[in-house]
Amino acid sequence: MTLPPLIDPFARPISYLRVSVTDRCDFRCTYCMTENMTFLPKKELLTLEELDRMCSTFVRLGVEKLRITGGEPLVRRDILTFFRSMGRHLETGALKELTLTTNGSQLARFAGDLHAAGVRRVNVSLDTLNEEKFARVTRWGRLPQVIKGIDAAQKAGLRVKINAVALKGFNEEELFDLTEWCASRDMDLTFIEVMPMGDMGAEDRVGQYWSLKDLRAQLAENYTLTDLAHRTGGPARYVQLEETGQQVGFITPLTHNFCESCNRVRLTCKGELYMCLGQEDMADLRAPLRASECDAPLEEAIRAAIGRKPKGHDFDYSRQQADGQMSRHMSHTGG
Ligand code: 5AD
Ligand code: SF4
Repeated sequence: MTLPPLIDPFARPISYLRVSVTDRCDFRCTYCMTENMTFLPKKELLTLEELDRMCSTFVRLGVEKLRITGGEPLVRRDILTFFRSMGRHLETGALKELTLTTNGSQLARFAGDLHAAGVRRVNVSLDTLNEEKFARVTRWGRLPQVIKGIDAAQKAGLRVKINAVALKGFNEEELFDLTEWCASRDMDLTFIEVMPMGDMGAEDRVGQYWSLKDLRAQLAENYTLTDLAHRTGGPARYVQLEETGQQVGFITPLTHNFCESCNRVRLTCKGELYMCLGQEDMADLRAPLRASECDAPLEEAIRAAIGRKPKGHDFDYSRQQADGQMSRHMSHTGG
């Protein structure tokens, strides 16, 4: 039976679901978490079976692209079982793409199995190529382990894209090194503007807000940039560097209006659906999921939630303090 697709009040078809499978992580990036971060009690989390039911329902309702995030998705116990079970939707053609955003720490171990499950592309978060700086920004991460993970991913046939958070006075001086390194390994690169997420307390941020407009201007001093028309329904814009042929993306959720083409929603690891990255409104999907073995109440709750998807976000950096500051953490909503 084909169900009517998910269309929000602004006529945007919802075809992309990002799913955070855990809020835990084996790193403690300074812009993401405090060092003594408290995590959700296990019973709050959707089980792998529940995650399967949840995602399968979204796929039935027309979601064609699933991105698995966290926290660090690969630290969740038995996560391969979940990837394999989502792989079945690739085989039927209902799902077009199954992807993953990871810090790379566990990739050396998982790359081959992820590929076998049907994953073809992974995004690896990496802000610096300097070991000491890497240890400083991630607190618990070690660069060589991540490089090994990237090596394994490429060897397994996964296309790797690097995501780097742009941090003024931190990786600013590495702009060209990072770009050349990615080009030499045939990896695309996306820069992310640092977002006011979570409560960072009195914690120092490593570096500060570095406008991607500046970053782009610096890139243009060394390369010929051609704007690419394609959008992915998210906050990224892409250029091609004519000299290297590689794509460089810019994710600027704070300064650009990308909302009109938004095609996505986000599911947290405890089953809350956020209709917009920059709004507090969410729908609890765990209750209808647990209330019945039949998926009808869940489907109804998903439709009702999509029916409240707002037109756009409320981030505002134009005032001095980060207005529209979100109280939740990226590790909870999954970026
Ligand atoms: N601002 C921008 N990006 C962030 N990430 C985590 N916290 C922030 C933040 N405050 C990014 C990570 C990774 C993805 C999971 O989210 O670097 O690329
Ligand atoms: Fe972990 Fe990613 Fe957050 Fe770093 S940014 S602590 S790798 S979830």
